[in-house]
Amino acid sequence: GKGTYPYYMAKEIDEQPAVMRKIIQNYQNEQGELEMDPEILDSILASDRIYIVACGTSYNAGWVGKQLLEKTTNIPTEVHLSSEFGYNMPLLTEKPFFIFLSQSGETADSRQVLVQVNEMGYPSLTLTNVPGSTLSREAQFTLLLYAGPEIAVASTKAYTAQIAVMSILAELTAKAKGLPVEMDVAHELAIVASAIESVIDDKEIFEQLSLTHLSTSRNAFYIGRGIDYYLVMEASLKLKEVSYVQTEGFAAGELKHGTIALIEDNTPVISIITDKKTAGHTRGNAHEVISRGAHSMIISMDGLNQPEDAYVLPKVHELLTPLVSVIPTQLIAYYTSLHRGNDVDKPRNLAKSVTVE
Ligand code: M6R
Repeated sequence: GKGTYPYYMAKEIDEQPAVMRKIIQNYQNEQGELEMDPEILDSILASDRIYIVACGTSYNAGWVGKQLLEKTTNIPTEVHLSSEFGYNMPLLTEKPFFIFLSQSGETADSRQVLVQVNEMGYPSLTLTNVPGSTLSREAQFTLLLYAGPEIAVASTKAYTAQIAVMSILAELTAKAKGLPVEMDVAHELAIVASAIESVIDDKEIFEQLSLTHLSTSRNAFYIGRGIDYYLVMEASLKLKEVSYVQTEGFAAGELKHGTIALIEDNTPVISIITDKKTAGHTRGNAHEVISRGAHSMIISMDGLNQPEDAYVLPKVHELLTPLVSVIPTQLIAYYTSLHRGNDVDKPRNLAKSVTVE
């Protein structure tokens, strides 16, 4: 049940530190080392390219997974929407390996791709929260998310769980390949768990921010670059689906190529800055929208912060920042929906699991 929470979404946001810890535990052996079915790793190592296929929030998690897999394993990785891939299949490499991301394991758009992949005889892995689900049964391999039942239609803890499991998959694949390890994932995920906790402790800040800037606004934009661009795709999906505010996540550098025309007086623009390579450029873009009248809110990571920022995130490993930067955006979506009087857990027109193509 929801316990003392008014909505499942609030409860599921709060569960994320525990989910991170549970994932570490479930993927550790008795010696405390990360471990998973070596056949999965062998199959990935035998491939020349990884294709991640998913919908919605799982698709957004896929982009973070691409970054993790490419940076850690050096295996080229593509991310595709199931509903596009199945009907307009790109030219595949000789030895593709497919990863299906699906919280429910029942999404019809993803299943129709898996059916084709099986017909072609290619190896596949499903990351899912539901053991025994269709995508889990029909793929060659399964890795579980251990996030516990996700009831709210808006996915929160499954997103962070998918990224955490992909970070473990990436590290173990790199190890199996004999590459130097990019990070001690179990240790870094434990740091992430504490960082998420401290952001959740500040939830009133995001409630206030929602009340002041989003509860009556007609539209809102998120901007970011690189890993922060991948994150703002999810931030905007979350906000639009529960609050019904017209929201888009943009690559900050693309603003001047058209999007900036949408900025009016007081348009809320939230910038996410966690990557030091692009921090200066994104901050510059935030200043450009301020000079067009936007209401700018910058959420930055400790070490990249400036006095103007609305919130400073605790520092975590650079490949894992979305696990922490997503939390304010989940809370902003939740409070905006709540204060607009929406049914937070059951947004209009949406189903938890989409079982038609
Ligand atoms: O169960 P799945 O992960 O396959 O679901 C995919 C999407 O339908 C799902 O993420 C959807 O976009 C959520 N409403 C997002 O919050």
